Amino acid sequence: MKLKDIKSLLAKHHQEHLLDFWPELSVSQQENLLGQIEGLEWENIDSWVENYIKTEMPAKLPEKLESAPVYPAIASDPKIKALYEKAADYGKKLISAGKVAAFVVAGGQGTRLGFDGPKGNFPASPVKNKTLFRIFAEIILANSKKYNAVIPWYIMTSPLNHESTMSSFEDNKYFGLDKSDVFFFQQGTLPNFDFQGRVLLSAKDTIASSPDGHGGSLKALYKSGAIADMKKRGIEQISYFQVDNPLINIIDPLFIGLHAIENAQMSSKALKKAGPKEKVGNFCLANGRVVVIEYSDLPDELAEKRNADGSLFFEMGSIAIHIISRDFVEKLNKKGFALMLHRAVKKIPYINAQGNIVNPEQPNGVKLETFVFDALPLAEKSVIFETLRENEFAPVKNASGSDSPEVTRRMMSDRCKAWLKNAGINTPDDCVVEMSPLFAVCPEDVKMAKNKLISIKFSDKIYIE
Ligand code: UTP
Repeated sequence: MKLKDIKSLLAKHHQEHLLDFWPELSVSQQENLLGQIEGLEWENIDSWVENYIKTEMPAKLPEKLESAPVYPAIASDPKIKALYEKAADYGKKLISAGKVAAFVVAGGQGTRLGFDGPKGNFPASPVKNKTLFRIFAEIILANSKKYNAVIPWYIMTSPLNHESTMSSFEDNKYFGLDKSDVFFFQQGTLPNFDFQGRVLLSAKDTIASSPDGHGGSLKALYKSGAIADMKKRGIEQISYFQVDNPLINIIDPLFIGLHAIENAQMSSKALKKAGPKEKVGNFCLANGRVVVIEYSDLPDELAEKRNADGSLFFEMGSIAIHIISRDFVEKLNKKGFALMLHRAVKKIPYINAQGNIVNPEQPNGVKLETFVFDALPLAEKSVIFETLRENEFAPVKNASGSDSPEVTRRMMSDRCKAWLKNAGINTPDDCVVEMSPLFAVCPEDVKMAKNKLISIKFSDKIYIE
């Protein structure tokens, strides 16, 4: 586009200030800035400003919300038991046939944890201080060995951490994985705004922007060529997880099998909420489709509503663990789709009219994000499978308190102890235990390897490999 056309585009959308420092810029800086301006979604900017920036659009709840059907964590009904056996067998077949990929979204900024660098480099394990990336890599490696299959790993980063993420894999020799089976790609970004709806500059030639949320993964998977790579490899199912949860069971034959047998396009694991207002999304059914309603959007009377037996009517919380069919992502992208935006009021460093960098002490603008669970209602069929918190959910979110590294480490150790107990081995209360995923990725693995554990001496810290 010519400068003249850019100027009129900016004027039309009230964003002329983006060229305020134009005369001061070098030719390459000017080109850089023009490229960024051209790359903005101009067809959407005015409606974003109206609906999300200047005011907060109240969440529109579907007229009728029902509770969503859930497969229980423990099958007591014989019919469900039989289905789970069939599903687990089918899941194992898919994994062994190389039809399942692992996919982590790791493009977030991890501001609450306050860790310098990609969150995947955070040392999370209780004895060996293994990083989150190492833990996931070892889980994937262990499953590849178990099923004698290649399980490629797709890793979504953002422009903020792409290079540093790649270097940590290079520096650690891909944590034992084959480099050719690890695929990195970057998610998209969205511009940051001040409360008047003006796009902010982070430098005189740079538009302030931030990653477009984990929902951006559904577009980035396609745009980056990851989906094409999966197709070439014969991948049918994608196991989606977040970078902050080391208890994740990345390759779960039962969950994968249930999703596939039910012909679902996007499925979820769920937890019984700790209380009516626990800060997790709520699984609901609206117009026959699964939706997740954020805790802050669910009116109190619905959050508190109970069934005759006293259980919560909206009992199941979302923990960001999904199986997504490759075909679903491909179709969404070919057809064109847009996830709703969510507004986050933040402190955003910016360049003021005098050309100085300002690091605000109070929130001064809005970042926009999309959430992956907003794709659930786009799926015609979606399975929800209950899991237990102690088995599978211990995210590292905050520096201290709930969801902190301290809690995660304790839960990792407790799960190892529970697996040992299940194999008939008791551990002292004050002993901290860590197991290499290469030793066990599920309780059955521990039972099978029991003879290796007979002579084990428990001290205050023990690592089992
Ligand atoms: P969170 O919602 O916990 O955000 O991300 P965060 O950015 O990691 O942490 P805070 O809020 O700044 O403290 C949940 C998962 O989604 C990924 C994160 O990397 C994490 O795995 N994510 C989040 C992305 O991949 N991209 C994003 O734009 C946002």
